[in-house]
Amino acid sequence: MNKIIISIDGPAGSGKDRIARYVSKKWSFKHLDSGILYRRIANLIYKKKLDPFDKKNIIKLINNIKELSYRKHKNLRLEKISRIASIIAEFKYLRDFVNKQQKKIVKRINKKNGFVIDGRDIGSVVFKNANVKLYIDVDIHIRAKRRHKQLIDMGEKSIYRKILKDIKLRDKKDKTRINSPLVIPKGAFIIDNSSTFHSTQNQIIKIIGKKINVKY
Ligand code: CDP
Repeated sequence: MNKIIISIDGPAGSGKDRIARYVSKKWSFKHLDSGILYRRIANLIYKKKLDPFDKKNIIKLINNIKELSYRKHKNLRLEKISRIASIIAEFKYLRDFVNKQQKKIVKRINKKNGFVIDGRDIGSVVFKNANVKLYIDVDIHIRAKRRHKQLIDMGEKSIYRKILKDIKLRDKKDKTRINSPLVIPKGAFIIDNSSTFHSTQNQIIKIIGKKINVKY
């Protein structure tokens, strides 16, 4: 059976996760957050106190991983993990490994209508043939404010100016890296997630509702 794939790409803090969860629930798709896979490896690097720039040791670490869990955990969202994830995401060997893991997960799970997968390169590299491609756009200041609030709500210390700087840096890294930079995938629909979530839902229903004929 050919599974339906919906790809959602966009910059840090653009709300891909919430949108993907919404799509997953509404159309009965399994949700795979590819960022979690990068964060899982980042967490291992952190725990083992490895240098995130030390490619040799990272290759060793990866070669010992059979299957990467895509289960979410709130610790994976901590800023120290985000920072490591952003560094290692530039490493091609690691990206190839994560991409293979994503394909394995999609192949293995058959229970749902298909998958909604969010990340930076899903519609442009990993699942180029996705049935529907979405690209999420949000003003950088709105993203920083939301991320700041999220961290405060999690009980973490957060300084808005620092978060804004971090997001700017991560955007730059994501967009200018040599391997799989963040781009608007060919054929993607651009969703503006700056306003209310209700407005975002309306934009998505129009696009997915038209393109996909599944019961929900
Ligand atoms: O929540 P946020 O958008 O900040 O991050 P995430 O989606 O959880 O991704 C964590 C890190 O992995 C980011 O620094 C991304 O650059 C990287 N990533 C990537 O390079 N490619 C993906 N498909 C997903 C995430």
